Amino acid sequence: MSRRSFLGTGLSVAGLTPLAPAVSRRTADPFELGVASGDPVPDGVVLWTRLAPRPLAEDGLGGLPPGRDIGVEWQVAEDERFRRVVRTGRATARHANAGSVHVEVDGLRPGREYFYRFRADGHLSGTGRTRTAPAPGTLPALTFAAVSCAYYEHGYFTAYRRAAERHPGLIVHLGDYIYEDSAEGDQPLPIVRRHSGGMCLSLAAFRRRHAQYKTDPDLQAAHAAAPWAVIWDDHELENNWAGRTPGKKTPGFAARKRAAFRAYYENMPLRRSTLRPGGRLRLTRRLHWGDLATFHLLDTRQFRSDQPCEDGLRTGCDARLRERRALLGADQLAWLDAGLRASRARWNVLAQQIFLAQRDHRLGPGTELAMDGWDGYAAERRRLTGSLLASGARNPVVLTGDVHVAHANELRADFDDPDSARVGVELVATSVASDGDGYHDPVAGAAVRAENPHIAHIDQRRGYVLCAAGPGELRAEFHTVPYVTRRGAPAAVSAAFTVPDGARSFGNA
Ligand SMILES: [Fe+2]
Repeated sequence: MSRRSFLGTGLSVAGLTPLAPAVSRRTADPFELGVASGDPVPDGVVLWTRLAPRPLAEDGLGGLPPGRDIGVEWQVAEDERFRRVVRTGRATARHANAGSVHVEVDGLRPGREYFYRFRADGHLSGTGRTRTAPAPGTLPALTFAAVSCAYYEHGYFTAYRRAAERHPGLIVHLGDYIYEDSAEGDQPLPIVRRHSGGMCLSLAAFRRRHAQYKTDPDLQAAHAAAPWAVIWDDHELENNWAGRTPGKKTPGFAARKRAAFRAYYENMPLRRSTLRPGGRLRLTRRLHWGDLATFHLLDTRQFRSDQPCEDGLRTGCDARLRERRALLGADQLAWLDAGLRASRARWNVLAQQIFLAQRDHRLGPGTELAMDGWDGYAAERRRLTGSLLASGARNPVVLTGDVHVAHANELRADFDDPDSARVGVELVATSVASDGDGYHDPVAGAAVRAENPHIAHIDQRRGYVLCAAGPGELRAEFHTVPYVTRRGAPAAVSAAFTVPDGARSFGNA
């Protein structure tokens, strides 16, 4: 969407075609993948769709006719029935971009709810609900959801729908939006539904995988409910990749990475500024929610050193302590530190992928740590917690995904010293579907907490985290669904924690 192709503002502009729900029977519905919005700022938001009348087409192009670019009209209105349209325009869904459309709307009012839709080939899309960020200097309350890890083969995406039903102002996705491989044969878990195609090794395969996920009605409902802020973890490319090192020792990693990055951009409501030369993506960015919250979105995959000691759970791995091992990398860490120092936000939310608190997996004597999480990068964790303390940034709250288990953690300058400085809190969202139904074992959870006193909560069921942030406190609720191998599970709050302003710890733990 270039500025030149923008048509004007409001229905009063002459020559503007209102998007009447005229449905052509001549062509298949190109809006099978739904609509989405993301990265809100005070005067705008990104609108997304991708035309794909046949989402599972093997070439990854969703059944778009070869070489044909398609004009797409879009509308933004203040009301759900589009009586008060405030912005409208025209974009092009290009065949070369797999029919994806990213519209960066501006000229909207801060802190407002809006509705949007698209029209193409005589078909009207579903309606999405979105929001602009509040103006700087204001402190309006925000409810946001944190979600992560949605393995399509392991279960239904009920947690996405239940999150959408709470009408959050923002949904933060912490990675593993797709899974590149198939669960077939490698886990003792039921396969609830199958991926089309095997392991993603090509651009066509990644595009098709994203398209298959986007056909899910619960995922579509969550995208249509609120703007999203997305970051990836490993499975958007492949399990446990680290910087230039593939997770699996299959050749062609650099090309596979470019393909995965490109497909990710095409399928997410991201700004064009995230695209970088050479097919790279920069997901490191900030979203400001007035003076209430700043979301520092981090990338813990692209710039890291390889996992030490051959990855996995390890005892006595000294390599994990090496000073020069990078996780965020020096540039990203400096960017974060500058942003923390400059922040005027009441809540400084770090959205990142992997488990930050130390976690000893071995009960009793001895220590066993996960090398893919921050425990594998101890010096860099010290640099991060040092920055969180020294910057004076108010109320650090870290959002984490990856481990498929809900946790509430208190972050310490030294996890082995309960009297060391309080850094902030970590809220770990469990998975939406990965690892199937899961379970809750309070006795085992208590044993883990006894081993790791800074861990206040642990739950192996599926769900999401819902946070209500206001000037005086942040309340985090862990919403849990009892099963995902069947559709339609109810969600219930299984635990809740309050973080008072200034406490850097849970008020009720
Ligand atoms: Fe995952």
